[in-house]
Amino acid sequence: MSPDASSAARDGRLAALLPAELIPLFDERFVGSCTLFEEYVHRLALRVVRSTGIDAAARQPGTRGEIAVRAGLDAARAEVTVGWLLATLALTGRAARAGDGRFHIPSALPDLEPEEVAREQERHDPSALASYRMADLAAAAYPSVLRGTASGEAALFAPERIGAWFEYFSNDNVIYAISNRIGAIAAERALHGDGGAVLELGGGLGSGTAAVLERLADAGRLPAVRSYRLTEIAPSFLRRAQRRLAGRFPGVPLSFGRLDMDRPFGEAEVEAGTFALVYGVNTLHVARDLEFTLAEVRRALAPGGALVLSECVRPFPDRPVYIEFLFNLLEAFRAPRLVEPWRPNGGFLTPEQWTAALEACGFRAVTVYPDIARIREVCPAFVVAAITATAA
Ligand SMILES: C[S@@+](CC[C@H](N)C(=O)[O-])C[C@H]1O[C@@H](n2cnc3c(N)ncnc32)[C@H](O)[C@@H]1O
Repeated sequence: MSPDASSAARDGRLAALLPAELIPLFDERFVGSCTLFEEYVHRLALRVVRSTGIDAAARQPGTRGEIAVRAGLDAARAEVTVGWLLATLALTGRAARAGDGRFHIPSALPDLEPEEVAREQERHDPSALASYRMADLAAAAYPSVLRGTASGEAALFAPERIGAWFEYFSNDNVIYAISNRIGAIAAERALHGDGGAVLELGGGLGSGTAAVLERLADAGRLPAVRSYRLTEIAPSFLRRAQRRLAGRFPGVPLSFGRLDMDRPFGEAEVEAGTFALVYGVNTLHVARDLEFTLAEVRRALAPGGALVLSECVRPFPDRPVYIEFLFNLLEAFRAPRLVEPWRPNGGFLTPEQWTAALEACGFRAVTVYPDIARIREVCPAFVVAAITATAA
């Protein structure tokens, strides 16, 4: 969260807009960590802009593509990311963004020390340093990815990086855990009555699964989970998730399997019409073709079943979200199939884009929890929500 957001949180304006059960999650530990981490990412972004020559290339106004070419970067890979870096600098007035989409860096950029912010984070709450480590890995990979000599996937998902991801996708990391907590509340509500079978997509290292099962256990509703199938594309993540969850929820019929949401779910032995709940934490925005994946989700749901997506949401079209610094390196994230009007760009979607996407793909009763459309006026950096929809 930006300083604006943190002051809104501290002076009570945010609490007035949040449902009562979410207020304790947005405490000083979380808000302070987000504020610091956003500053850290801004400082890393400044360094990347300087070290890749984007600052010199933007002395004269240009589109993001023109600036990428002037800086000698691989235009196809770098255009979106250069646009994101410049839009991020524009948030703090260090770059100018004209109405026609052209950017310009009018004067020399300062070199602000990210390390100073990391030290402050260590004093405030060291659990969030897992996010800093991932941002550092991304920053180190930027020059080669933007020049086209390495892929972001190879740089971020090398086998020796898996430990860093394990710490990042964790309920101990206060910055990441918020998505799991909000998602767990929405998932518990969506699994109403007698419950049924649950399918999780992109379950990664299992922290979202743990949070939702803990929530159901606390509510005495674990028996509502007739079965829980955690799926994930990366076998190494899946193995770790299996180990992380082993023995933790003995009464739950938990199974694990590889599923690529860009492929027909039948290939992963997902039977049509069988799930009361399909759940995903920060996963669906990376679908190569959201229309295709949402159609597969609909097919998997039983009549009246629900889809719950806990997502990082873009508060306003075109506004960069700080964690995109990391994920923009991944092609699947920044360059999915585009669909007007609800998938105009890669990365995170706004609440309105999610609603339009789900309705266009045959879902109804779409809700966004909490109501970002109201919160963003006070806190434009409030970027987490669970989106729930029912198969029509
Ligand atoms: C934000 S992470 C989810 C983290 C997870 N909730 C956890 O606690 O570890 C998104 C996940 O989606 C997975 N993913 C990416 N592309 C996918 C695809 N095409 N099909 C299925 N999963 C995919 C990634 O490997 C990653 O684990």
